[in-house]
Amino acid sequence: MPRSERNNSAILFDKATTLDYPALVLRSREVHIWAVALNRPGPEIEELRKLLDPAERQRADRFRFEADRLRYVVAHGYVRRVLSTYTKTAPENLSMIIGKYGKPELEQGIGRPGLHYSLSHSKEYAAIAVAQSPLGVDVEDPRELVDMGSLALSTFHPGEASAILSRSGKDAEAAFFCCWTRKEAVVKALGSGLFMPLDCFEVSVDRCHPRLLSFHSDWFPDGELHLLHFELPGDTIGAAAMPFVPVTVKAVLIS
Ligand SMILES: CC(C)(COP(=O)(O)OP(=O)(O)OC[C@H]1O[C@@H](n2cnc3c(N)ncnc32)[C@H](O)[C@@H]1OP(=O)(O)O)[C@@H](O)C(=O)NCCC(=O)NCCS
Repeated sequence: MPRSERNNSAILFDKATTLDYPALVLRSREVHIWAVALNRPGPEIEELRKLLDPAERQRADRFRFEADRLRYVVAHGYVRRVLSTYTKTAPENLSMIIGKYGKPELEQGIGRPGLHYSLSHSKEYAAIAVAQSPLGVDVEDPRELVDMGSLALSTFHPGEASAILSRSGKDAEAAFFCCWTRKEAVVKALGSGLFMPLDCFEVSVDRCHPRLLSFHSDWFPDGELHLLHFELPGDTIGAAAMPFVPVTVKAVLIS
């Protein structure tokens, strides 16, 4: 069995080297987060490529750089492997449909109804979040951005921008990326992507208290969205957004 390890955030990631879970049960108000190190051995990448459908293979082949192509294959191969453990359907037999604003969903009729997922990739990791309701996940590698202040002012909610700009140095950088991952997780949970203006809702920017603070948009459901913050080795940070208070968060890091 994988062993639990406390990382810097409140979410505990079990560590594993393979996805060795024959069948998984997802209960109401549970969120499962799978983080996968994208740097995988060549033979495994070959196996993962075989799981993709023709459209995914074509997309993979369109990447100009091999590193991007391999990351795409691993991320989408693992989406299939992960969803296969919940649906008990072979990974290569799963079909995804793409919503109006680009949100991928598992095609209805495959496995149990009400199985939703979200995918994000950074340089090092893919994150795949799964729940019974539509949800969103985002991972980013915090880095120095020369135009961070102007980006925050032009893109984020004014409250977020001023909370970021009131900090300096690494604190400001951390706040910026906490904000960024939370906003991406929200727009992915709603399925809007960047079709919804990013300044029509406000999230907290401090690491420890991820929260949706306010919103004014018809995109939002009646109930609130709830946010989670998580961290992965090598400084990658992530956020997930879901329309319920999670009672259980299962998190696994496949390295
Ligand atoms: C597509 C978007 C939803 C996320 O993109 P991203 O952060 O660049 O990339 P991520 O790796 O986190 O997520 C990409 C995945 O999101 C999923 N996705 C795409 N559109 C989506 C939508 N409308 N809703 C939910 N998920 C979506 C797909 O699975 C996609 O994977 P794929 O491209 O390999 O098929 C969108 O928000 C975007 O284009 N962002 C650009 C980044 C940016 O400028 N952010 C502003 C600062 S907050």
